[in-house]
Amino acid sequence: MTIGILSSGGDCPGINATIRGVAKTALTHFGMKVIGIKSGFQGLLSQDAIPLNENDLSGLLNLGGTILGTSREKPFKKILDGKSDDRSDVIINSYKQLGLDCLVCIGGNGTQKTAHKLSKLGLNIIGIPKTIDNDVWGTDATFGFYSAVDIATDAIDRLHSTASSHKRVMVIEVMGHKAGWIALYAGMAGGADVILIPELGYNQQTVNQAILDRVAKDKPYSIVVIAEQLNATEISKAIEEGTKLETRTTVLGYVQRGGSPSAFDRNLATLLGGHATELIAQGRFGRMVSWKNNAVTSIPLSEVAGKLRAVPEDHNLIIQGRRMGISFGA
Ligand code: F6P
Repeated sequence: MTIGILSSGGDCPGINATIRGVAKTALTHFGMKVIGIKSGFQGLLSQDAIPLNENDLSGLLNLGGTILGTSREKPFKKILDGKSDDRSDVIINSYKQLGLDCLVCIGGNGTQKTAHKLSKLGLNIIGIPKTIDNDVWGTDATFGFYSAVDIATDAIDRLHSTASSHKRVMVIEVMGHKAGWIALYAGMAGGADVILIPELGYNQQTVNQAILDRVAKDKPYSIVVIAEQLNATEISKAIEEGTKLETRTTVLGYVQRGGSPSAFDRNLATLLGGHATELIAQGRFGRMVSWKNNAVTSIPLSEVAGKLRAVPEDHNLIIQGRRMGISFGA
């Protein structure tokens, strides 16, 4: 068997560990051939691909980014200049020309949606979820998430000391354009006083009051962690106006996505990569590998496509945070 592998969408720590997990298992355990496709679906459209051999797989476990490159190319773009731009025929042709028996698609929600469409067209597809945002449906975690949480937590720790020295309000925006997972996990781990996530919404008065309540308790500084979808600059301004406390904003940005994966993410990536290869060997296509109840499993792509995994309102960290007096702004 020959399997192709690509990474698509925003990068994250752990993609290379996954490529290694898939390819090493495929080459050494199952005796398959592996082809790496460059720059996501862009490379599949242009047949930009390279064979991956044992020697290409050294040094990948802790390497950030993706050796295959990535892009946000979607082969099913809807309308271009008033015309439909569906290039599924080019994709099917490339799949055949490259001699693939299966295509492994590493990516987030958008990628899994494309993977499902390709699967419906009759290609043998396996999806592997990845994103620092942790918002892929059907899996309890995506690799990259815990690495990003570590980076964001470290940033919050650092902001704490400068916030307390200057008696300031520090607003820190972390990534998560549709879901508040990083804000919740890093906010709780970093001891934030206010955590704002899109799933819960927020009331500016409530946020300002929580900060003023701290001042009344002789805690003249506060840490406010917010998810990217909410506007850090606006919130910061409204806090300063409403509390008259000096307020500063930090937008953490892409550092959260770069660099080495955490130990947990390396092992998660390795396990998911290995399981993907096992599904291929069993001929169980059209599925996304996933992490459920501390074990690897898989779920049909049809159940994943088009869905988003948001933070539930009754998440245990929210319940516990509220009990400890942390404000969630609502
Ligand atoms: O990887 C997910 C994510 O980090 C989002 O949180 C963020 O909005 C987005 O990617 C931005 O990435 P890009 O600028 O590469 O589109």
